[in-house]
Amino acid sequence: MKLRCEVAIIGAGPAGLLLSHLLHLRGIGSIVLESRSREEVERTVRAGVLEQGTVDLLVRTGVGERLLREGSVHRGICLRFDGETHRIDLSQLTGGKAVTLYPQHEVLKDLIRARLSMDGQMLFGVEDVSIGAVETLHPRIRFRLGAWRCSIDCDFVAGCDGSQGITRGHFPRNALSIHEHLYPVGWFGVLVEAPPSSEELIYASHERGFALVSTRSPTLQRLYFQCDPNDNVANWPDERIWNEFRLRLATRDGWAPKEGPITNKVIVGMRSVVTEPMQYGRLFLAGDSGHVLPPTGAKGLNLAVADVCVLADAIGEFYNNGRSDMLDAYSETVLRRIWKATRFSWWMTSMLHCFPGDKPFHRRMQLAELEYVTQSLSASASLAENYVGLPMPTRRAAATGDPGTVSSASDEARNRPSYGGRKPDEPMLP
Ligand code: FAD
Ligand code: PHB
Repeated sequence: MKLRCEVAIIGAGPAGLLLSHLLHLRGIGSIVLESRSREEVERTVRAGVLEQGTVDLLVRTGVGERLLREGSVHRGICLRFDGETHRIDLSQLTGGKAVTLYPQHEVLKDLIRARLSMDGQMLFGVEDVSIGAVETLHPRIRFRLGAWRCSIDCDFVAGCDGSQGITRGHFPRNALSIHEHLYPVGWFGVLVEAPPSSEELIYASHERGFALVSTRSPTLQRLYFQCDPNDNVANWPDERIWNEFRLRLATRDGWAPKEGPITNKVIVGMRSVVTEPMQYGRLFLAGDSGHVLPPTGAKGLNLAVADVCVLADAIGEFYNNGRSDMLDAYSETVLRRIWKATRFSWWMTSMLHCFPGDKPFHRRMQLAELEYVTQSLSASASLAENYVGLPMPTRRAAATGDPGTVSSASDEARNRPSYGGRKPDEPMLP
């Protein structure tokens, strides 16, 4: 089977599906290749926190209707240490911004439904994907789909295949720097059939290790606690898990998590990885294929969204206005924001976790930092500003090399060109 499209996208995670959607809004065709089945993609439990900019983008581009209806807006988060809870008022500290709790797999369901309703091409269950000729103007993708041997001739390839994908391996070794930092801790995540224990997320720092209280829906909680990354879920019967949560989340006034049946247990490792550059020839990395962050700052999905925003813009400019300068600047543009998000999640991780070999001095430093962050207006404003999400990289920043990523709604409106072909009732371009 021989196929042809403008942009071949490897991976149907948030990065790949959103890119395909944004390109479609610009009148640009794509084919998404995904190794897993649609059911598996729509079932995998991962992120939950959407930054303000992510929510705005999904709503503006017509895929945010269910998110607005079912997502839960959080205007603050809590830091808990020394048996006390301290609220960071995200909205007050950021001029009204907030985060929304809405599961990643629900975002994916919304995107898949939107792509299908617009005849988007997505191939699930593909195998043996390989990429060729990305240094030329005509890259070619080869893969298998059941008994079929297939190829796609395209103009661009988007590597949106996550941290375990194959696209990054198509960069020549000497064209790539990989910056990696491993954290000697992991997160043990559970899904619990019980109403939320708290209206807002609780990030708890305790001598026994970090714990996090999050939610998924009015009847489902998502809780995490720091563990040995090499531990096994089989070592953790439910009662042992609850005991750990009770101890790490305890407050002086007797707070306790709401308990219920645990329906899912998983251990995830923690690392920071940044790949530089994010482009080789006509192959562009976006999302976890180019960078991985520890989940403490809740940034991974949101960074994937920011990457594909810039990429869709740059590819749009190429086809609609014949400009390639934004494509050339892609890597530099997205990496500025990626490094800032990497710093934030590293900082949150360092402040909240206990690391093997830490001395009492380290603990005193963490407590001093937590006290400072919760008491100082400027320190809590800095946390809030990063948590709700730094501004999306703008078209102007990319085009002129302006180092700032600061934008406002009016900046974006001024910079938005008129794209031919968009009907007035179609969703707005980001
Ligand atoms: P992925 O979601 O990994 O998608 C890549 C897709 O490519 C997959 O579907 C995969 O099957 C497919 N693929 C891989 N290889 C191939 C191949 N060879 N051919 C075809 N397809 C392939 N982020 C947040 O922003 N907020 C949070 O609250 C948050 N919480 C998290 C909690 C946990 C426990 C974890 C593990 C992560 C969390 N994250 C969070 C991170 C977030 O889930 C990821 O950053 C996000 O999924 C990245 O999206 P992506 O599209 O780049 O990659
Ligand atoms: C989640 O709900 O899965 C979640 C929330 C906050 C984080 C990470 C994950 O920092």
